[in-house]
Amino acid sequence: MRKIGVGIAGYGFIGRVHAHAHRSIPLFYRPLPLQTELVGVSTASQASGLSAVQEAGFQFHTRSYQDLLQHPGIDIIDICTPNDTHFRICRDAILAGKHVYCDKPLALDAAEAAELAALARSSNVVCQMTFNCRFVPAIMRARQLTESGFLGQLTGFRAQYLHAGYIDAERKHTWRLSMARSGGGAIADLGSHAIDLVRFLTGSATGVERGGEWAAVSATLQTLIGERPNGYGQLTPVDVDDIAIAQVKLEGGAVGTLEASRLATGVQDQLVVQLHGLNGSISFDLMDPNWLEVYDAREPEAALGGDRGIKRIETVARFPQPYALGAVKNTVGWLQFHIQCLYDFVNSINSKEQGGPGSPYSPTFTDGLAVQRVIGAVQKSAANGSAWTPVEN
Ligand SMILES: NC(=O)c1ccc[n+]([C@@H]2O[C@H](COP(=O)([O-])OP(=O)(O)OC[C@H]3O[C@@H](n4cnc5c(N)ncnc54)[C@H](O)[C@@H]3O)[C@@H](O)[C@H]2O)c1
Repeated sequence: MRKIGVGIAGYGFIGRVHAHAHRSIPLFYRPLPLQTELVGVSTASQASGLSAVQEAGFQFHTRSYQDLLQHPGIDIIDICTPNDTHFRICRDAILAGKHVYCDKPLALDAAEAAELAALARSSNVVCQMTFNCRFVPAIMRARQLTESGFLGQLTGFRAQYLHAGYIDAERKHTWRLSMARSGGGAIADLGSHAIDLVRFLTGSATGVERGGEWAAVSATLQTLIGERPNGYGQLTPVDVDDIAIAQVKLEGGAVGTLEASRLATGVQDQLVVQLHGLNGSISFDLMDPNWLEVYDAREPEAALGGDRGIKRIETVARFPQPYALGAVKNTVGWLQFHIQCLYDFVNSINSKEQGGPGSPYSPTFTDGLAVQRVIGAVQKSAANGSAWTPVEN
């Protein structure tokens, strides 16, 4: 197995997620053409660098991403830092001949992004964005459908990415609330995913060449919590949007709406994309990711509706091969349940050693026995013409 070294810049929320992904890939895919190996990590503080080494197994940590670029054992730079650093880390990495994997958004603004895109095109390295929402099986299935022309002429769409993470006005001010450091609020943070998904799904459906691009938008950006505590007893102004709403015209003539919010009380991670074409419609909701709702308007109408209606396609975790860990029929997130169960077991060992109560969730062997007894009773009943059969306890 050929290995390729990775240097991750930034080890905050998403840096850990990327590190987890690198470590997990060899277990998920068979055959695996190339294995990434965590070599170095650059962080703003010594403490987070040390955590990264301890938690994810990097060989070294540094406070300068330049050290990652100069390391001969690192061929990939994985960018998980605040948005205002993306441009210079991307640029320097490409110029250093490293492959680049950059989390969204690419940069602070279009000018920076254009420079990076041009640099990437003229280089020999692979440069890719982390638009992870494309890789939900239901979205991949939606793309198959739109590419096959299922929708017919696209007429409209609705894209929403709603969070409630900032409804607490006491939530601390961070780089995400500063225009200079983030390049935008909800629109850059959440809107970027929604915009990418609409582009990903409608390129061919609009009848325009792939990249049937957004032609025009009419938007409202609203900041409702104008300042937040900075952790030093003061309030710092918020100069990015909490909520973004836009009407959109696509080049192919379809119109749609985009909504991104960090103040959508009552939701968690609600990314909804609905596409309407003359032949049908497709609807996806990240909160219910095992299903893609599909409506085929070409089905004949009949009294009481006939068979016409919304079909829910069970996309679950049907990733294409070489995806090989767990059954493809498992629900999205199924593997995470196993990770949690294993964690519970390890935690129980620890708790027992400390004389603690253990976890209330831990399935014991007694639980296993109880289940076994029920199974036996069921089998016995079935063998006896469904007779009432007691379960031993
Ligand atoms: N794709 C997704 O689902 C997703 C989700 C969350 C965040 N993101 C993106 O990931 C990036 C980071 O977000 P986050 O939530 O992890 O932020 P974060 O604030 O949790 O972490 C940022 C990390 O970068 C480090 N850092 C800051 N400046 C640095 C520098 N110059 N060099 C090296 N490290 C530096 C900080 O110490 C911190 O560890 C952002 O671009 C964000 O948009 C993507």
